[in-house]
Amino acid sequence: MCGIVGYVSGVPLANAQHTAVDVLMGGLKRLEYRGYDSAGIAVVTEDGALESRKKAGKLSNLAELLEAQPVTASQTGIGHTRWATHGGPTDVNAHPHLADGGKLAVIHNGIIENFASLKERLLAEGVEFTSETDTEVAAHQLAKNYRATGDLTEAMRITTTQLEGAFTLLAVHADLPGTVVAARRNSPLVIGLGEGENFLGSDVAAFIDYTRSAVEIGQDEVVTITPDSVAIIDQSGAPVEGESFEIDWDPATAEKGGFASFMDKEIHDQPQAVADTLLGRMDTEGRLTLDEMRIDESILKSIDKIVVIACGTAAYAGQVARYAIEHWCRIPTEVELAHEFRYRDPVVNEKTLVVAISQSGETMDTIMAVRHARQQGAKVIAICNTFGSTIPRESDAALYTHAGPEIAVASTKAFLSQIVACYLLGLYLAQLRGNKYRDEIGLILGELQKIPAKIQSLLDDHKDQVLDLARRLKDTESVLYLGRHVGFPVALEGALKLKELAYIHAEGFAAGELKHGPIALIDEGQLVFIIVPNRSGRDNLHDKVISNIQEVRARGANAIVIAEEGDTDVEQFASEVIYVPATATLLAPLLTTVPLQIFAMELATAKGLDVDQPRNLAKSVTVE
Ligand code: M6R
Repeated sequence: MCGIVGYVSGVPLANAQHTAVDVLMGGLKRLEYRGYDSAGIAVVTEDGALESRKKAGKLSNLAELLEAQPVTASQTGIGHTRWATHGGPTDVNAHPHLADGGKLAVIHNGIIENFASLKERLLAEGVEFTSETDTEVAAHQLAKNYRATGDLTEAMRITTTQLEGAFTLLAVHADLPGTVVAARRNSPLVIGLGEGENFLGSDVAAFIDYTRSAVEIGQDEVVTITPDSVAIIDQSGAPVEGESFEIDWDPATAEKGGFASFMDKEIHDQPQAVADTLLGRMDTEGRLTLDEMRIDESILKSIDKIVVIACGTAAYAGQVARYAIEHWCRIPTEVELAHEFRYRDPVVNEKTLVVAISQSGETMDTIMAVRHARQQGAKVIAICNTFGSTIPRESDAALYTHAGPEIAVASTKAFLSQIVACYLLGLYLAQLRGNKYRDEIGLILGELQKIPAKIQSLLDDHKDQVLDLARRLKDTESVLYLGRHVGFPVALEGALKLKELAYIHAEGFAAGELKHGPIALIDEGQLVFIIVPNRSGRDNLHDKVISNIQEVRARGANAIVIAEEGDTDVEQFASEVIYVPATATLLAPLLTTVPLQIFAMELATAKGLDVDQPRNLAKSVTVE
């Protein structure tokens, strides 16, 4: 996973508003969500010296080291925040890795699969290694190619032909103040264009404080940035024109804005995230238009199956989508974890529409599943939050969520906006294929438009209740979540949030499954969240879930019920009720999820844990 920043500037240091260290450390701060096992930087000074600092642990440790042992002010540098793969999270294994007698520094995101055979060859040639990382192999290989060619860009190009696996590599050399060379394969990298300065980043958050102009870098391309130029070549050495785009994220959305954590802020961003994802989707005649749908309408009319592929929270968004899409469009819809999909030999062909959901657009499992689906002839639509990322780039069409940058590792606003985007896709297909009349679609869109205000009132009226509940229950050791219909994926999501933030055993079940086994877990005091469907949904479901509440209460459970406002039936059976505003049955997850997010966040906070950067995790899982 790892976060990567590169910077070059031609502004003389005497007039510069920021140095390379300022830009690198600011960028790493924004990218720390990608990994926080260690961090490091390397700079090249104007008189051609390379200096590097690196430290295990969070970025603050590196900041302290830089205070104690500052580097010389410079305008060229690279920075890295690590999520460990090869080699533990130690000072030595932290990036950058040096080669060529300490004159070349390399940082890396990804996994070099053939590092062992390359290392063996380099060892035989007398190269000495100091770390256990695969990255150091790339550094020495690059140094060898640089010695042979005398050209860092060409050396990087040759190196990419020798490496197998996934990588973004950035390199600086003491010989070349004012130059950063980079390459990418199956791992993200974007260019930021400034005036007299240029940037590289794992994503645009790395340089959002300095520029809104960005350029995508394609697969297996090598880029060389100097203060005044950006040159991209492909693996054969031919020049390539990168696709430019404008960043519409407000830098303020990547700040905490007075909240205790990014997660807290992002929970509160949800009304806006939903509203922005809905924005501008109707034409003047009240028809739903999805401009990004570049797939021919005749193909969309002929599809006979939808397969949603995603991981983690994004897969739960897909599970919610299945209920809506099948109901509205009558197209059989499957949801599959992306990492299982391609190994199962799924039946996918030209009549299959694959929907790949990903906040980051860089989840390697989902990227590989997209590639597999396209090889089988399927059309792929990406639902994604990150412009310029790999999944939308490699898909046939992209429907962007507009949640803004999501920094906390636990997904919140991305989840709600993914669900909204799926609804839009479902309604669009229903309109196109004639399953729904325009007024029917208008009614659902009307309900969707009311959701932001409802999330806001839920936050205003019920957040304190949930905070108090979480604090009271902070010593809980196990939590079960039950839901039915669209409440089932909400139960799964609630359990995932608690696991990843509070390190507590938590499981989500379909409430109907309770009596088939999980009820054996219920004992005196067992905490159970139950998401109750509204009374106007599927026949009897509401009453059946009320029976489930009684069943667990009868066995001593502490039953916390999430129900629609006005559903007083639940009160006599629940230990406590958290009410959410009423909405249409299929839209309920946009509300019922919110108390579960707050509960997990606050329980983790009460336990003294870091809710933005939980242990062992990283925001983008860019390795398989
Ligand atoms: O960036 P993606 O949406 O592809 O990420 C998918 C999952 O890794 C992600 O949702 C993960 O499960 C989150 N940590 C959940 O909070």
